[in-house]
Amino acid sequence: MLILAVESSCDETAVALVKDGREVLADCIASSVEMHKLYGGVVPEIASRKHIEVIADLADAALEKAGVTRRDIDAVAVTYAPGLIGAVLVGVNFAKSVAYALGVPLIPVHHVRGHIAANYIAHRELEPPFVCLCVSGGTSLIVDVRGYTEMEILGATHDDAAGECFDKIARVMGLGYPGGGPLDRAAQGGDDKAFSLPAVHVQDAPLDLSFSGLKTAMLNQIHKIQQKGEPLPVADLAASFSAAVSRELVPRTMEAAQALGYGKVAVVGGVAANSRIRGDLEAACQKTGISLYLPPLKLCGDNGAMIGSQGYYEYLAGNLGDTDLNAYANREISLG
Ligand code: KG4
Repeated sequence: MLILAVESSCDETAVALVKDGREVLADCIASSVEMHKLYGGVVPEIASRKHIEVIADLADAALEKAGVTRRDIDAVAVTYAPGLIGAVLVGVNFAKSVAYALGVPLIPVHHVRGHIAANYIAHRELEPPFVCLCVSGGTSLIVDVRGYTEMEILGATHDDAAGECFDKIARVMGLGYPGGGPLDRAAQGGDDKAFSLPAVHVQDAPLDLSFSGLKTAMLNQIHKIQQKGEPLPVADLAASFSAAVSRELVPRTMEAAQALGYGKVAVVGGVAANSRIRGDLEAACQKTGISLYLPPLKLCGDNGAMIGSQGYYEYLAGNLGDTDLNAYANREISLG
């Protein structure tokens, strides 16, 4: 089954062609990140306008790259939630129009379910159940992936997402936007014990996360150094911060997998690119005999292929949309 998949929930416009949920024939992405850099964060209206400009050309490019025609498309999958509402609306309306014109099914896909499915592309043998750590610019979740379309949140952030936190700290340290990647690189060779940062516990919710206290502690450390007129020890700050974020994410993810008796842990989202988090997860999984599934870096960020993969499983489960499909800024992952 050939699915044309559309993703436009933030600042990446992506159109992919995916066969039977696991084989990517084309994955074309255009990003408006360069424009957002001027403002130090994503400007929703600019993102929406960029999606409108490029989405049809991207679809043509994907068809050409895959060597198929519009007539070969069996269904259209699209991210319909969550995301910047104006941005998601562009993709939904485009996908709806394509499905309507071709007379093929329309498949609504939850963006975070899509991120989880990036692992089905990278690891053909991976099947649920597993625990998935989903960490991006807008999400920090620990999810029980019981089935391809059956999921439950085990832990969620009460405030900032991990990626948002990386971006804010990186900005204050002068590392630009988006700052997760540059901060990760800056941390290489730094002393991860140079700064003591707080561990966070959410009362009565041991798997829940919170990053605002960590962010404030980090900002205080930075301001103290700046007030003394000293140069920022960027590598040490970045290494200490990366270690502190990893300390929040990795033990909780492992605890969830062990409590459920799952032998598999997956990690997805832009922050899954972080070398400290990847390394700590690898070490923890090795110690406990749990298999770790990490997508390659190109599948960590937003892309269309992951939507095509999850779209296939939503289709098999009968989760189809119609011409009245709407877009949502927020939606529970368990609802699909
Ligand atoms: O999944 P993604 O591309 O977009 C969504 O938010 O949906 O994630 C982007 C986030 C940004 O906050 C970016 O700073 C962060 O992922 N990120 C990283 C790294 N690479 C990207 N954070 C930490 N370490 C990295 N190496």
